[in-house]
Amino acid sequence: RNRFKGKDYLGFKDMTREEIEFITDLSLDFKRKWTAKEPHEYLKGQVWAGLFEKNSTRTRNALERAAADLGIKIVYLRPDEMQMTRGEPLKDTCRVLDRYFDGLFIRTFGHEIVEECANWMKNPVINGLTSLEHPTQGIADLMTIKEKKGKFEGLKICYSGNLYNVCYTTMIMCATLGMDLYIACPQGLEPDNQIWQETKERAKLSGAKIVFTQDFDEALKEADVVYGMSQYSMGQTEKEIARLKQAYLPYQITMEAMNKAKSDAIFMHCLPAHRGEEVTDEVMECSQSVIFDESENRMHSIKAILAAVAN
Ligand code: CP
Repeated sequence: RNRFKGKDYLGFKDMTREEIEFITDLSLDFKRKWTAKEPHEYLKGQVWAGLFEKNSTRTRNALERAAADLGIKIVYLRPDEMQMTRGEPLKDTCRVLDRYFDGLFIRTFGHEIVEECANWMKNPVINGLTSLEHPTQGIADLMTIKEKKGKFEGLKICYSGNLYNVCYTTMIMCATLGMDLYIACPQGLEPDNQIWQETKERAKLSGAKIVFTQDFDEALKEADVVYGMSQYSMGQTEKEIARLKQAYLPYQITMEAMNKAKSDAIFMHCLPAHRGEEVTDEVMECSQSVIFDESENRMHSIKAILAAVAN
């Protein structure tokens, strides 16, 4: 079933339902191996580059640990120490890195940057977050949902947070796997058009309802999962952040909001969270919160993605 060998892993929008399910199952299998302390140094001798243009706690450290368990060495690259910040074209940087490394794991700004890397490199490129997608996070989220709910189809997710990469990956994920997604957000915010069109096409096939609503209660009603996300994203101006914080005030995930979802609803958040903004401290710490299982799953999912795409 592995169609990923030697391929790039750039986003859920490029993946079929079968491929998304395959990587999720593989991730759960790697978690089983980890829990059973079964050695899995399947890629001993490989050396990958990890290029991070933005800060990271989970993704970077999950990558380092996942790679160590697989026997891969990661060379961490800082753009400010490379010639790319002095104007060397990305296409030159990529072709040089391709001669040294077995693959590139990259966190960057515009999605077109990872597409350009993939275009210029023969070895696999993995997207560790761009403007459009966060597909390693998406698999960790699916693992967590499968572990806690035992299925995907027929579940309802209430999402409260910014319309950006995590939201877009969640939209494609739900539309592909038949989960209803209610995105609670202030009036006037629009998703990326390419993602929205792709989401609608996939939802037609799976029967998933993907709904944008200003009515937080409608989004919370009968929800199996309440998913919190920052109200703004890295790189936005102070003025824009202040405007978004104000607009999102009615959508804070409080215990009162959690109580409007199903009684066995779980709370998820990709982290880092802004306690007191999109979610209260009480919700983060409550028994329904599965945020640290979700964070742990970042390591298992990145391991599965590395193992699937590696040559
Ligand atoms: N969720 C996530 O991507 O976390 P980091 O920004 O810490 O990597």
